[in-house]
Amino acid sequence: NAMFSWQRTAFHFQPQKNWMNDPDGPLFHMGWYHLFYQYNPDSAVWGNITWGHAVSRDMIHWLYLPIAMLPNKWYDINGVWTGSATVLPDGKILMLYTGDTNKYVQVQNLAYPANLSDPLLLDWVKYTGNPILVPPPGIGSKDFRDPTTGWIGPDEKWRVAIGSKKGKTGLSLVYTTIDFINFEQNDHYLHAVPGTGMWECLDFYPVSINGSKGLDTSVNGPYVKHVLKASLDDARVDSYALGTYFVENDTWVPDNPLKDVGIGLLLDYGRYYASKTFYDKENERRILWGWVNETDIESDDLRKGWASLQTIPRTVLFDNKTGSNLLLWPVEEVESLRLSSDEFEGVVVKPGSVVPLNISLATQLDIFAEFEIEWLNSESIGESNIGCGRGGAADRSAFGPFGLLAIADDSLSEQTPIYFRLSNTTTFFCVDETRSSKASDVAKPIYGSQVPILSDEKLSMRVLVDHSIIESFAQGGRTVITSRIYPTEAIYGAARLFVFNNATDINIKISLKIWQLNSAFIRPFPFDQNQ
Ligand code: FRU
Repeated sequence: NAMFSWQRTAFHFQPQKNWMNDPDGPLFHMGWYHLFYQYNPDSAVWGNITWGHAVSRDMIHWLYLPIAMLPNKWYDINGVWTGSATVLPDGKILMLYTGDTNKYVQVQNLAYPANLSDPLLLDWVKYTGNPILVPPPGIGSKDFRDPTTGWIGPDEKWRVAIGSKKGKTGLSLVYTTIDFINFEQNDHYLHAVPGTGMWECLDFYPVSINGSKGLDTSVNGPYVKHVLKASLDDARVDSYALGTYFVENDTWVPDNPLKDVGIGLLLDYGRYYASKTFYDKENERRILWGWVNETDIESDDLRKGWASLQTIPRTVLFDNKTGSNLLLWPVEEVESLRLSSDEFEGVVVKPGSVVPLNISLATQLDIFAEFEIEWLNSESIGESNIGCGRGGAADRSAFGPFGLLAIADDSLSEQTPIYFRLSNTTTFFCVDETRSSKASDVAKPIYGSQVPILSDEKLSMRVLVDHSIIESFAQGGRTVITSRIYPTEAIYGAARLFVFNNATDINIKISLKIWQLNSAFIRPFPFDQNQ
């Protein structure tokens, strides 16, 4: 439908048509990155869930493959739901996934590639003994889903975590297994947090506290912390916490109980859910996929014929400067899309002003911006902690907001501000979607959170712009915000980029490097038609 064609993105993974949700079972095999995803082959709304499948050499250019798994057994007839891959030391690949049964019970199933020597892993076999796990006593039949990647302990037993809830307490069950067929349930949880509701799409993995490389899922030791992530079904956010994993009894304890899972940090403060990491052995990094749902109305999705995106995959590292958060950063492969660049050195933006940046196009960008602050009044007093501002980027206060206006038209009738706002004690990083679209039937939230700034650091942001999605990273990825926007005027050649300063008591000096980004090839695999 040409009416909505500008909402297609140029370098983000999206289905060719119809509905997509969670990333599933990401892995690397024989030179190819595989992405599976919750996919409805029949419509642009959720339902009839299968596993869509695509492969890539670099996680930027993609080839769509035939559907990997269909809901065609009694134990998954109502949906082949989310799951994770475990790559065994001998190279075998096992896929655990949730099936919604003929009686709408959530069970766990095992599947594996029919032919491991096929780099494309086209054919998937469901284990004949499925299901391998059914909801245990005390757990609701609709509260038992999304098995993690397995990890192995010193006792040679594999562990798998599964999300659930009891009452309003979100929790993680743990099972041990030798063969991924027979499982034993631990008599205690990995972790549970009252008041957080159902935990979907658990993710559990180690991060190195003193290194710059990712860790394979089973690694543990003194220089390791463990991340526990839950997708909160009620709040619709991906919450994580850093902590310590005790393999002897399979429990996990958060570093800071005030920042526990479900009440602490989010992987992304914008439109983002059901994320999942995998360990990329080839490049010794842990990579995070995440689903970006639409924020328009269902009838528009049906009219445009597709729904949802995946973010550019992000590397995950422990932030050893703050010691209290992760760093998420777009995989370096996205830089291969960089074309020409423009540099702006020390652009001074006075209180209350907007400055256009003269670049050729503004719909496909990789922006790096650094901010210096000139205090105009040594007497001025900042405000106390008021977050992103009630009026978003339109607010005026002593020390903010200031930042970029992306996907804006000349008259600024549409604009998406990405900005910092300083208070007396903290710095906030925010995206204001209230003027991102003239359309009335789309959600226009103001997103944001605090971002830690160390005393010797400049404020900085990296922003990936791709027509209708903006991914924003503050301070090297300490705070991340993904925006799904629906411009109607600021499209194609009419889109512009500006910098702004709505602070009253500071000048902002901005230095920017802005790359035009090429489109990625994302298309069906060119199978030989004669085969
Ligand atoms: C998360 C989720 C999972 C489930 C899948 C079904 O978005 O609800 O818990 O397995 O989607 O599509």
